[in-house]
Amino acid sequence: MQNETRLLAGGMVMLSIATSLLVVLPYMTVGQVPAPTALKPYTAAELRGRQVYIANGCVSCHSQQPRARSLAPDAARGWGRASVAADYAYDTPHLLGTMRTGPDLFNIGARQSSEAWHLGHLYQPRAYVPGSVMPSYPFLFQLKDQLRPGDHEVPLPPGQAPAGKHVVASGEALDLVAYLKSLDHTYPAADTVSAAAAR
Ligand code: HEC
Repeated sequence: MQNETRLLAGGMVMLSIATSLLVVLPYMTVGQVPAPTALKPYTAAELRGRQVYIANGCVSCHSQQPRARSLAPDAARGWGRASVAADYAYDTPHLLGTMRTGPDLFNIGARQSSEAWHLGHLYQPRAYVPGSVMPSYPFLFQLKDQLRPGDHEVPLPPGQAPAGKHVVASGEALDLVAYLKSLDHTYPAADTVSAAAAR
């Protein structure tokens, strides 16, 4: 019985050390970092778009965490400076991602500000990037014979829309693109503590 007690006590000690290091300590250091003044809170449309991003699993191919120069050539790839804790002040849950089948999207709004490009790329990525392995998202669009007032037609490259049809963006597609365009963290790192660590 003595051995079991020791085993249990040892297990509890290890667990509390791990919890302190991985949960309590990070929470105390970066849990309450204020948002940078240059970072705007998401609008209602951007927040809806964020949900579309989550629902469609974009995070399974795209990270949102450019890394420090010492760790990866992310800045040279045009993905921006290393992110710091404050950059995520409005992100619940965060969408850091672990896979990079596609480019990091933390600054896609600064890199690609064209709504028409984003919509067309979501409808058919290969119309813009030949050989792209990104899935197309046709269910975020409607095909119409005739446009109605208020319809947001997607201006696709020639030959991409089905013959005689108009490709119209759904509200979900427009919200998703509003979210993508909001992803701009190109202001200087405001959180100096983690910014220094990230250099
Ligand atoms: C199977 C992996 C995969 C999934 C899932 C995926 N993508 Fe991509 N994405 C890619 C790849 C690969 C590229 C690079 C080629 C291209 O531009 O099409 C890319 C490129 C992009 C780009 C352009 C990036 C740049 O720097 O030019 C955007 C924006 C984008 N994806 C948004 C999304 C969104 C939004 C979703 C979810 C609706 C999504 N992706 C889902 C793989 C993926």
